[in-house]
Amino acid sequence: MSTGENMSEVGGAAAAEDEERRRQRTLEEALEVQSLRRIISAYLNYPEAAEEDVRRYERSFRKLSPAHKVSAPNDWLDPSIQLHVPLVDVDKVRCIVRNIVRDWAAEGQKERDECYKPILEELDSQFPNRSKERAPACLVPGAGLGRLALEISRLGFMSQGNEFSYYMMICSSFILNHAETVGDWTIYPWIHSNCNSLSDSDQLRPVPIPDIHPASAGITEGFSMCGGDFVEVYSDASQEGYWDAVVTCFFIDTAHNIVEYIETISKILKDGGVWINLGPLLYHFADMYGQEDEMSIELSLEDVKRVATQYGFEFEKEKTIETTYTTNPRSMMQNHYSAAFWTARKRSKATTDERVSNLSRADDLVEVLKNL
Ligand SMILES: C[S@@+](CC[C@H](N)C(=O)[O-])C[C@H]1O[C@@H](n2cnc3c(N)ncnc32)[C@H](O)[C@@H]1O
Repeated sequence: MSTGENMSEVGGAAAAEDEERRRQRTLEEALEVQSLRRIISAYLNYPEAAEEDVRRYERSFRKLSPAHKVSAPNDWLDPSIQLHVPLVDVDKVRCIVRNIVRDWAAEGQKERDECYKPILEELDSQFPNRSKERAPACLVPGAGLGRLALEISRLGFMSQGNEFSYYMMICSSFILNHAETVGDWTIYPWIHSNCNSLSDSDQLRPVPIPDIHPASAGITEGFSMCGGDFVEVYSDASQEGYWDAVVTCFFIDTAHNIVEYIETISKILKDGGVWINLGPLLYHFADMYGQEDEMSIELSLEDVKRVATQYGFEFEKEKTIETTYTTNPRSMMQNHYSAAFWTARKRSKATTDERVSNLSRADDLVEVLKNL
């Protein structure tokens, strides 16, 4: 065989190998697209599937023989107690019920000790000479069901909780204004989940609320709850330099734009006032994929502190606090946070002005981010 023939045979074999590899790749890509379609469809099918689950529970229950129906619990299937609202609304109510335990049940004491106690101790030590007559003003943005704001009031502060969710406001108003005694009502906060229960009685346990009688808890004059969006309400000129302390607990990560929150906190504090914060950086709008208008600025803790420094804060105390948030203490699954805790003091106006002279509004966010 001549060299030329050899070359063309080798070339032919190489071309066949290439062709085979191309064929394999096309096949693999087709399989990948197919399985991706299945995965995406699974996500898209999820809500309907969840509803189908409930229908399946009902069908299964109906198939039980009368004798078995007697031994299986069935009250929850009574259709006459079902309200016709979207399921997502119902989910929010379930979430509120868990918040009631956090704020207003003896069962929530451990979580309150982890989250609220360090804040209260810090406030106590920051304002040692306070008097009820001239009580320092403390704002709690994102006050939830109001317990922290109430405890701050009991400590001798003119305390205001701010909250924008009607779900929260209706419930806190009900508890704060209508509870007549300790344990006035009984709720069953854990019945919604069949998962991770150690026993039926754990899942079905009643929880008496409230654990204190708010009206006779010894509040300081001026205690109030203010409805509305934090930035909107407190951007009013009357709020500038008004507050001695701002307390944020599991709040700053609820922002679309955390820089705007920090800017507002800085603006409404007096010179020398303190910002006490406790919480993670879960960024509530981080997962809003596909909604182009849903802004979400997700800074690391390091960058949050850097932005706060730009807005005139000096960090005096920092630590990490291990805690849970509205967790069923008897569940086999417990989500823990290593939450950031800090006390930051607002420097005097002159120093602050110098640092933020070109950062007047949140539109200048880009400038802040460039400096990070
Ligand atoms: C994670 S919860 C924490 C509640 C409470 N601080 C606690 O520790 O239990 C955050 C709260 O902030 C409220 N919130 C979120 N964005 C807000 C805003 N822009 N203005 C006022 N409240 C807001 C929510 O409705 C929710 O009640």
